[in-house]
Amino acid sequence: MQPFLTEYCKLYNMATQEETFKKLVAHCKEYGFVFPSSEIYDGLGAVYDYGQNGVELKNNIKRYWWDSMTLLHENIVGIDAAIFMHPTTWKASGHVDAFNDPLIDNRDSKKRYRADVLIEEQLAKIEDKINKEVEKAAKRFGDSFDETMFRQTNPRVMEHQEHWNQLHERYSKAMNASDLAELKQIILDEEIVCPISGTRNWTDVRQFNLMFQTEMGSTADGAMKIYLRPETAQGIFVNYLNVQKTGRMKIPFGIAQIGKAFRNEIVARQFVFRMREFEQMEMQFFIKPGTEMEWFKHWKEFRLKWHKALGLGDEKYRYHDHEKLAHYANAATDIEFLMPFGFKEVEGIHSRTNFDLSQHAKYSGKKIEYFDPELNESYTPYVIETSIGVDRMFLSIMCAAYKEEQLEGGETRVVLQLPAVLAPVKVCVMPLVKKDGLPEKAREIMDMLKFDFKTTYDEKDSIGKRYRRQDAIGTPFCITIDHDTLNDNCVTVRYRDTMAQDRVKIEDLHELIAKAVDMKQLYRKLMA
Ligand code: GAP
Repeated sequence: MQPFLTEYCKLYNMATQEETFKKLVAHCKEYGFVFPSSEIYDGLGAVYDYGQNGVELKNNIKRYWWDSMTLLHENIVGIDAAIFMHPTTWKASGHVDAFNDPLIDNRDSKKRYRADVLIEEQLAKIEDKINKEVEKAAKRFGDSFDETMFRQTNPRVMEHQEHWNQLHERYSKAMNASDLAELKQIILDEEIVCPISGTRNWTDVRQFNLMFQTEMGSTADGAMKIYLRPETAQGIFVNYLNVQKTGRMKIPFGIAQIGKAFRNEIVARQFVFRMREFEQMEMQFFIKPGTEMEWFKHWKEFRLKWHKALGLGDEKYRYHDHEKLAHYANAATDIEFLMPFGFKEVEGIHSRTNFDLSQHAKYSGKKIEYFDPELNESYTPYVIETSIGVDRMFLSIMCAAYKEEQLEGGETRVVLQLPAVLAPVKVCVMPLVKKDGLPEKAREIMDMLKFDFKTTYDEKDSIGKRYRRQDAIGTPFCITIDHDTLNDNCVTVRYRDTMAQDRVKIEDLHELIAKAVDMKQLYRKLMA
């Protein structure tokens, strides 16, 4: 078990995290970031719509990713494949037979659960008990507290730890062997109850395929069963030859894609963290067999650098190397981010060998290879994949940015300290009053800035209230036009994070804003 209590507590005040997360979800709705899908009909489980600010933030994340791939790497090109694909694609990729989650129903509540999640929650409960003991002891002993020693010697902690170890081992074995009967037995032995009915009246565990199905074609007989893609990657694999030939690409080279993916998640929770319709940014990097470990290391490092360049806090990231690998992979790691509900996967980097291309060659009967002019031979390229969820990235950024601040005089403010380059709105232009030619001057300034920066205009309420509205959506710059502006051609610039104010010449505004919001500064960091 990770002795993560100390680092976790340092970064987040644990007791308030659940509360803060709830507030963040409410904030996302109130300020036009994320709405429940079809809310007027009471929503649709684990499906969300992005609002006017959410879509801007999401587009900026996508822009940062897309440019880091296709602009900074001359050997990476993009595609935009269709969501619908020939059904054989999913037979070849293994999704028809193996893209399953183990599900279990409670007969009394009629609620459905993921068996693995029920057991993982049980593991987390034991971890919680240990952490509470450690927390209590840390308070009791103060500075002299030795956490490692306490964990190794306290009888209650040791007992919980032993329970955790045994359960974890039994669970891992059952999952690795896809032993559904054993998963059910663990649930019974651990006396896990349904949170709704409180009973242990469980059905057997069954496999549940996560792909959504639909039909293509108008007649009942002629209709073909097709799937909504559960990952964007296969659209890249089936286009490997097209891109390699038409782009005259030489190995090593990559194909990047951003697009929607769909999974019928049994347990969809934690807001946009686990959705049924979500968006992925995936890049498949085609390489010579035998060079995969070197490229795996390269992409693992580059991707972490990409995350850290945003400045959300280096300590909030960690790698989680996979011990158990998918049958086609020979290395895999996750980049995890410290969300309010613990370290969670945001991105996966996988060394997928030549599995996918070989499978598509087998199922299509087409030769899918690369002729290497240096070796004067053909081979099926190996692949390193980087796969990140846009929505999880969005959530990690929002979690890191959301702050409730206590100001002098007892006032509080909610501010989104978003990286300025990603902020949905960069500048808000505000005339001090709605008269005396100030709105006209403000509009003039807005027209000057709006071609380069997402700019809004606000003349309603007091300046203080207008600042708070912009803080709440993370706008890095507010520009106030007052009566002096008409004479001295200067405005007041107010900075979101420090709330400091400067008098700035109108002609200098563009440079001041560009310096803070230009993505080029991130690209330079990545290339350094
Ligand atoms: N092509 C590889 C692949 O799809 P994955 O680990 O299943 O790998 C990659 O998914 C990323 O997609 C995850 O790291 C996560 O960010 C995102 N993702 C996966 N399932 C998701 C879901 N239900 N909701 C939101 N994001 C999801």
